[in-house]
Amino acid sequence: MKDFTYSYPVNVYFGTDAAKKAISQEIGKYGKNVMLAYGGGSVKKSGIYDAVVSMLKEAGKDVTDFPGIMPNPTYAKVQEGAALAKEKNVDFILAVGGGSVIDCCKIISAQAKTDKDIWEMEFTDHVFPTEFVPMGAVVTATGTGAEMNNGAVITHEEKKIKTGVFGAFANFAVLDYEYMKSLPAKQVISGAFDTLSHCMETYFGSPRTANISDEINEAVMRNVIRNLKIVSKNVFDEDARRELMWDSAMAENGILKLGKVTDFQAHMIEHQLGAYTDCNHGCGLAVIHPVLYRHIYKDAAERFAHFAETVWDISAEGKTADETALAGIQALADFIREIGLPINFKELGIQADDAMLRAVADSTNIMAGCCKKLNADEIFEILKECR
Ligand code: NZQ
Ligand code: ZN
Repeated sequence: MKDFTYSYPVNVYFGTDAAKKAISQEIGKYGKNVMLAYGGGSVKKSGIYDAVVSMLKEAGKDVTDFPGIMPNPTYAKVQEGAALAKEKNVDFILAVGGGSVIDCCKIISAQAKTDKDIWEMEFTDHVFPTEFVPMGAVVTATGTGAEMNNGAVITHEEKKIKTGVFGAFANFAVLDYEYMKSLPAKQVISGAFDTLSHCMETYFGSPRTANISDEINEAVMRNVIRNLKIVSKNVFDEDARRELMWDSAMAENGILKLGKVTDFQAHMIEHQLGAYTDCNHGCGLAVIHPVLYRHIYKDAAERFAHFAETVWDISAEGKTADETALAGIQALADFIREIGLPINFKELGIQADDAMLRAVADSTNIMAGCCKKLNADEIFEILKECR
């Protein structure tokens, strides 16, 4: 284990009536002006918007609406939200939505407290925000774990970069299955695959010798796989959905990352693909993972073989480490097919010509934390194989 300090700032309310409990217990600590941020309208159709507004009114709050946060939120939308928050002197931001809404609000929360441009601050000056408008997250689409961390994935359209920006932690998070019932099955599955991806990206980071973080991770991965198989047959299986909700949080609440270094390779590639195509995050990852792993497994064959044995129940008997590793990667690919996610860019529905893939490869920022430091040519080869 590497050295670490652990504490956690997010109060999580999980289960039935969680929004009511969270809002009644938490919101009184903050001022009167609440900005209610949401996406393209699913919260209005599902009735969640009306329910949350009446809880806020009951708590004596004035509500400013900030609608229209798109999937894969843009930096322009962050600026729009921050300007509104400043204009209305917002005391608290309540994000009601999936990863996109929550991420956008994390950066609005930081941008509303400074006149400096957050992007320039973080990427040019390497200074990270320390002051935030407090915020809460009512999760309506689980999988990203965005409610549990202070990283936000934002697309800067002019720069053609989709990447992690650091912002606020939610002061509280609400995870209630009732608020996710209306989520389309495809999004439930791609979101849960995103969770599995977060686990794998951490697991293949370093160190890769036996350690408690990875052993907990193996349990979470097995749990995601078991429950994903269940929801792919019956999306309304509440027990399985609730398990997946907590799996999602577990993958991003820091526990699995303690003592580990990882750079989320598949994510770095998928995020850049998102900058060029606006593809669904979990679906993009489903395409990339098996292809990426076939490229890198020889650099960490023992770890991939262990993954095959412990996560996919593959026997290593009579096999070399390479053979066991490859059998595990094949099991992952078969699983992706079984749960109905795309296995190539064609199925994902994106036009993947050489010029676009080259641009994605050249702009993907890979560090050294995950088995192998890939160069742009290798990423280009991986992307071409994804077609
Ligand atoms: O906009 P609305 O109308 O709400 O519709 C959304 C959206 O179209 C819909 N939806 C959400 N809740 C619903 C619902 N539809 C019906 N009923 C509900 N209850 O689902 C669609 C997708 O929503 P989105 O928030 O984009 O999905 P997700 O939660 O997968 O978030 C994806 C974003 O999170 C980033 C991704 O890159 C992507 O931008 N990530 C954030 C991470 C983080 N902060 O830690 C980690 C992840 O790796 C990921 O990169
Ligand atoms: Zn992800």
